[in-house]
Amino acid sequence: MFITFEGGEGTGKTTLIKDIAEMLCQDYDVKTSREPGGSLITEAIRDIILNPKYVGVTPYTEALLLAASRAQHLDEVILPALNENKIVLCDRYLDSSLAYQAYARDLGFDFVLNINQYATYHMPDLTFYIDLDPLVGMARISNRDKYDRLDQETVDFHQKVRQGYLKIAQMYPKRIVTIDGTQSIEEIKLQIITKIREKL
Ligand code: TYD
Repeated sequence: MFITFEGGEGTGKTTLIKDIAEMLCQDYDVKTSREPGGSLITEAIRDIILNPKYVGVTPYTEALLLAASRAQHLDEVILPALNENKIVLCDRYLDSSLAYQAYARDLGFDFVLNINQYATYHMPDLTFYIDLDPLVGMARISNRDKYDRLDQETVDFHQKVRQGYLKIAQMYPKRIVTIDGTQSIEEIKLQIITKIREKL
């Protein structure tokens, strides 16, 4: 089973995935990963995408680098783990490219789906979208000492990302479960684990 977690900045996905993995580990073989990243090559691509020193990366280059990283990540991490019957929990996947690149960067769904065709053959069984007002999310990460190139985007950009996600959640209602990100982490975990166990 392939499960992805989506949302804007400061939605607590990293902690959630770690805790959900620990719960599932008691009964199942679990593999966690993240995009962009998750392997040697994809972490190198991640650095080009997110390091603020590469301020000149254009929207098209960004989308293509993300698609390249995703193709590598599928072959190297996700598909082998699924073939070994593991439950794969991935922090971000194609929906991130739809919300950030297709919608917020205005590249369009057709372009982003085309360059990610390989990923469209391997869509998640279940996706949790943690919905949160970007102002709340960004306030939560304001004490971080390091901001990546995308964290540094404007509030308007992050509002557009949220609108994008809400649209995508409407487009794929069977796969995407929208979770209210203002709830406590315990409530969110309970909703997610209940849904996963239902599906298993
Ligand atoms: P990360 O530090 O993993 O962010 P977070 O903790 O918020 O998940 O950085 C990933 C960044 O890359 C995040 O700002 C979203 C962005 N991104 C895209 O724009 N498109 C994509 O397809 C993916 C996978 C990530």
